[in-house]
Amino acid sequence: MATIPLIPEQASTISGKMDFLFYGWLAMSMFFFFSVVFTLVYFCVKYRKGTNVDRTIRGDNERTLELTWTIIPLVAAVLVFFYSAYAYIDFTKTPQGAMEILVTGKQWMWKIQHPTGKREINALHVPIGVPVKLTMTSEDTIHSFFIPAFRVKKDVLPNRFSSLWFNATKEGEYHLFCTEYCGTDHSRMVGTVTALTPERYQAWLAGTDTGVTMASSGEKLFTKLGCVTCHTGTSPRGPTLKGVFGKEVKLNDGSIVVADEEYLRESILNSQAKLVAGYPPLMPLFRNQIKEQDLMTLINYIKSLKDEKSGAKS
Ligand code: CUA
Repeated sequence: MATIPLIPEQASTISGKMDFLFYGWLAMSMFFFFSVVFTLVYFCVKYRKGTNVDRTIRGDNERTLELTWTIIPLVAAVLVFFYSAYAYIDFTKTPQGAMEILVTGKQWMWKIQHPTGKREINALHVPIGVPVKLTMTSEDTIHSFFIPAFRVKKDVLPNRFSSLWFNATKEGEYHLFCTEYCGTDHSRMVGTVTALTPERYQAWLAGTDTGVTMASSGEKLFTKLGCVTCHTGTSPRGPTLKGVFGKEVKLNDGSIVVADEEYLRESILNSQAKLVAGYPPLMPLFRNQIKEQDLMTLINYIKSLKDEKSGAKS
């Protein structure tokens, strides 16, 4: 099928499921379309004016016929529903421990950052046989991240994170498209996804090592922006961020939130929105002060901060 130019290769674990649904639907639609068209033409010819055929009108109480054309499509629709739900859940649920790569969309390019800190533009290198999670955001308008061969697509939005996961199965180079109209050069917001064996991916990563991991550049920002003064110990001015990621946090209005990426993001940009119980509203707002990519790096560093007391749990 890969030889037909309009049909992309199947190169991820979800490709087969998506194609099964697509071709299943296509086959069903074709079947009903041609059945109807064929019957239509056949009757037009058979009952045309002047032919000598039986024209007695049949009764309108054809129970068997009614049941047949109700039950068959019903069963088909239910099967399609369950298979779609199964595929959709697989598509939405990121497996635990997936490798995380950051993606920033901007007019008109894709900026990628790997866990080691390595960056690339309009290119994405991934290992095969490993679940990869993309955490994505935009610096300006809405974009959409689409890798046809992996059958994955997700909108990339300003001021929030969206995520996407895939597990590539086949080495090769694949297209990467922006599929949300985002301005003049939308059509040129494309790139190449290169799927490599894990060994070759490691070699590629090591290739031109920047020497700066994402966590260490996050640490620099943490110091530079002054977070370090109030958020690392027992300062009365701000809660410690050690081990905070993924934990429940009590707010000053009594409610409880989980300190996930979205919460950290909001708290950095607009610290007054959800104040932690017992702390004064002292922190400056970093909205418009910090670039999306730096924000991601910073959050990544906060995620890496461990609570000394509870040990090396992450
Ligand atoms: Cu970015 Cu279209």
